[in-house]
Amino acid sequence: MDLHDALKKVSSGISMHVPGHKNNTIGFLSDIKIDYDLTEVPGLDNLHEPEDILKELNDTLGSVHNCYAQLVVNGSTTGMLASVHALNNQSNDFFYIGESHKSLYNALSLLNKQPKQFNIDLLKSGDVIVITSPTYYGDLLDVTDIIVKAKEKDVRIIVDEAHGAHFNVTRNFPRSLIHSDVDVVIQSYHKMLPSFTGASVTFVKEKRLYEKIMHYINIFETSSPNYLVMASIENALHFYNTYNDEIFFKKRAELIEHLKQNNIIVETVDDPAKLVLSIEGFSPYDLERSLRDVNIYSEMVSHRGVLWCLPLLHYGDTYPFQELLSNINQLNIKKIKDEKIDISKLDGKVAVETITPYPPGVPLILEGEFIDIKLLDEFVTKNVKIEGLRKNLEYYKIEV
Ligand SMILES: Cc1ncc(COP(=O)(O)O)c(C=O)c1O
Repeated sequence: MDLHDALKKVSSGISMHVPGHKNNTIGFLSDIKIDYDLTEVPGLDNLHEPEDILKELNDTLGSVHNCYAQLVVNGSTTGMLASVHALNNQSNDFFYIGESHKSLYNALSLLNKQPKQFNIDLLKSGDVIVITSPTYYGDLLDVTDIIVKAKEKDVRIIVDEAHGAHFNVTRNFPRSLIHSDVDVVIQSYHKMLPSFTGASVTFVKEKRLYEKIMHYINIFETSSPNYLVMASIENALHFYNTYNDEIFFKKRAELIEHLKQNNIIVETVDDPAKLVLSIEGFSPYDLERSLRDVNIYSEMVSHRGVLWCLPLLHYGDTYPFQELLSNINQLNIKKIKDEKIDISKLDGKVAVETITPYPPGVPLILEGEFIDIKLLDEFVTKNVKIEGLRKNLEYYKIEV
C-alpha cells in the first residue's frame, strides 16, 4: 500500500480526530481550489511582511479578540518557537503550568534552557510562564489567581491554547484565556476548527512584542508559506464568526445517549467538543481498536480512555452522523492481544534522546535524564507512537 492508498482508506473512515474539517465534511474547505496553491506573486501579499490582503486577514483575526494576530502555516509549534525566542533574555527563566508540548522544550533547548515547574516563590521580574490549557483531553486549568499574582511580579505569560481555537465560538463553549491578562495566546486552528493541517494563529496583546514575535516567526517559518493553508484560515474565521451551535449540542446529546445505550462509559470534560470513552471489562486500547474495526478513527488512547474530538456540526455539513451511530451499533469489542513492548532493559539508563509519546506530544523523559520506565507504562503498546524510544533502544542495543 502506498501513501495515496493509505490516505484513501483512512479518509473514508469516520473521523473523531483532528483536523477539525473531519475529512472535509465540516466547514467550507471545498471552496478552496487546488489552483489556489500559489506563491507571492503580485496581488497576493507576503506573509513575512504582510501589507495588503494578508495584513487585512491578520487584522480581522486580531479584531475577534481585540489584539494583534499573525496567521502561521507551520502550526502552533512555530508560534511557540517564536514566542519563546522573543521573550528570552540572558537571565530569565521559563516556568510551565500544565502538560507542555514538546515545542516548548525544543524552543528552550535551542537556547540551552529547560522549562521549570511553576513555583510562584521563584518568579522574578522578566520571567515567563507557559500555560497549557486546555489540555489535550479538553480539561481547563484554573489559572485565574496565578495570572493575577504573576502580573504583580511583572512576569510574561504565554498560553498554549493549541486545542482551544474554537473557544468563545459561542457562549456555550469555554472562554479563551486571551481575554485574561496574558501576553501571547497560540491556537492551532487546524485542530478543532475546519482548516487545513498546519493552520495556526498567534495572538499578541502588545504591538512591540508582536513585532518581536513576527521577527522570529519569519526565521522559523517556511519562506514559501502555503496559500491553501492561509485561505483555510480565512474560511475557518468565517466559520467561527457565523457559527450556530444548535445542531452541535442537539446531536452531541444524541451521540452521548447512543454511546451509553451501547454500554460505553462517556466522560464529559470542560470542552464540550471532547469526549473520553471507556468500557467495563476492556481496556481503552481494546475499545480504540474495536472502533477502528467499525471504521471509526479516534484521536488518542491512553489509560484514561479513548479521546474523541467531536465535529463542530452545523447546518449544511456533510458529516456522516447517522453512519457513526449505526457503526457504533455494530461494535464488537474484543480484547487485543497484549501488545505491550518490553522495555524493562531501558530502566535506569540515561536517555540519549528525549522520549515523547505522540499524541499527546508531551515529553516524559528528557535527553540526559535517567529513564524510569514506570513513566512510560501506559504508552508502551504498539498502538502508540513513542518518539525517541527507538533511538534509545538502538543505542543500548536492546531488541524488543
Ligand atoms: C498542547 C499542544 N501545543 C502545541 C502543539 C503543536 O501544535 P501544531 O501541531 O499546530 O504545531 C500541540 C500539538 O499536538 C499540542 O498538543
